[in-house]
Amino acid sequence: MALITKAVKGTKDALPKDIHKNQYIESMMIDIAERFGYKEIRTPTFEHTQLFQRGVGDTTDVVQKEMYTFDDKGGRSVTLRPEGTAGAVRAYLENGLCNEALPQKVCYLGPCFRYEKPQAGRLREFHQFGAECFGTASPLADAELISFAKQIFDELGIQDLSLEINSIGCPTCRAEYHKALKEYFSSHIDKLCDTCRDRLDRNPMRILDCKSPVCSEIAKDAPVVTDYLCDECREHFGAVQEYLKAMQIEYTVNPKIVRGLDYYTKTVFEFVSGSIGAQGTVCGGGRYDGLVKELGGQDTPALGFALGMERLMLLMEAQNVEFPKAIAPDLFVVALGEKATLKAIDIVKDMRADGFTALYDLNQRSLRAQLKYADKLNAKYSVIIGDKEVEESAAKLKNMETGEENEIPLDKFVSGFYNITLSSQLDDLEINGEEFDFSSLFGLDKKD
Ligand code: HAM
Repeated sequence: MALITKAVKGTKDALPKDIHKNQYIESMMIDIAERFGYKEIRTPTFEHTQLFQRGVGDTTDVVQKEMYTFDDKGGRSVTLRPEGTAGAVRAYLENGLCNEALPQKVCYLGPCFRYEKPQAGRLREFHQFGAECFGTASPLADAELISFAKQIFDELGIQDLSLEINSIGCPTCRAEYHKALKEYFSSHIDKLCDTCRDRLDRNPMRILDCKSPVCSEIAKDAPVVTDYLCDECREHFGAVQEYLKAMQIEYTVNPKIVRGLDYYTKTVFEFVSGSIGAQGTVCGGGRYDGLVKELGGQDTPALGFALGMERLMLLMEAQNVEFPKAIAPDLFVVALGEKATLKAIDIVKDMRADGFTALYDLNQRSLRAQLKYADKLNAKYSVIIGDKEVEESAAKLKNMETGEENEIPLDKFVSGFYNITLSSQLDDLEINGEEFDFSSLFGLDKKD
C-alpha cells in the first residue's frame, strides 16, 4: 500500500505553489526561441527503441544502461525518450520539414526518461528545453546556437555559468583518434568495467564518459581529441571561436568534453555551474552532421542543444534569482445565502470574462470561514454580499491589504471595480498640471 502514496524513485511533482516559476521560465524560453527563429515542435514521449539505438548509439551509457524500454501490447519494442534530438530528427524527416526552406529551426520542451542513480539534479524523469537547427554547416550557426542558449541564461538573470567548448572532429579525423584511444586503454584493459572492455573495440570514445570511478580515473590521462583534428575540423573550430568572440561570448576550450551521445561531430559545448553540486552541467549540445543521414535522410548538417529544467531551477534557487510572484486572485466574493450566491455567480462570470481572477466559496461556508479562505488565497479585494446588498444592489469592496472600503454597484460590478481599483492608483496622477478625472471614463461618480 505504501507504494501508491509515493512517487516513483527519481520522479518529482511540480506543485501549484511553485508552478508559476516553471511557467515563467518556459514562456521566456519559447519567447527567446521565437526571436532566434525557432518554432516549437511536439513529438511523442515514446518512440521505436531502434530510433535511439541507431540515433543515440548502442554503445552509449544512455542506450546500454538507462533506457525505459518495454514491449507494448502489440509486441513492439518502444522506449520512453531519453532525450529529444533523435525524435526531432525523425519528425523532421517523416513530416517533410527537410523539403522546406533550410535551415529549419525547431525547439521543444518536455519530459525525458533515464534510469540513472537519482541525486540532486539527476532524476529518472526530468524535463528538457531543447533546440535543433537542420541544414547548415556554417560555423556561424554553431556560434548563433550557443548565443541562443546564453541569451536564455542572461535573461533569466543567471550568473556563474561557464561555457566550455570543444571539437570532437569528423569521422575522418576520429579514426586516428580512436586508434590512439584503443592503444591507451588496451594497456589498462584488466581494470576497465565489462561494458568498457566491450567498448574498447566498438567505440573507445565512450570509455571517456563511463560513470564507473575506476574507468573515469583511467580516462583522465587518455589522449585528447583536439590533438587529432583534421584541417577542416580545426578550421571550423577556429571560425566558431572567432564568431563567439565577435558576439562577445566568453568561453574556455575544454578538450575533455566528448559528450555522452554518439551523434556528435565537430563542435560540442556545455554550460557548467559550480553552484549545484556534482551535476553541474545545465546545458549541453553540439553539431551532429551525420545523424540525419544515419536515420535515413539526405546528408544534412545539423546542430542543437538541450538544457535540463530541474538543474536550471536548482541553479536559480542556489543563486537566489528573483522569480515573478504567483498571481493572486483579484477578487473574492463572500456570498451569504442563496440569493447572494446567485449574484456572486453573475459577478465572477463577468469579472472572469474581463480577464480577472475572481473566486467565491464553493462550500458556501460561514462569513468568518469565507473571509479566512479569501485571506489564505491572498485575494487582493473582497466583497461581502448578503440579502441586504442584493436588495440594494450595492456592497462594499474591500482592499484586503489596506483595509480601505468603497461602495460598489452590484449590477455594474466590473466597471465599478475598474473605477475603484484604477482610480485609487491614479489618485495622484496629474496630466498637464491638472488632476485626471479617471471616473469620467466609466461614466461613474469618482470615489471620494
Ligand atoms: P544531454 O547532455 O544528455 O544532451 O542532456 C542535456 C541536459 O539535460 C543536461 O545538460 C542536463 O541539464 C539535463 N539532464 C540530462 N540527464 C538528466 C537527468 N538524469 N536528470 C536531470 N537532468 C538531466 C542531450 O540530451 C542532447 N539531446 C542535447 C542536444 C540537442 N544535442 C544536440 N541537440
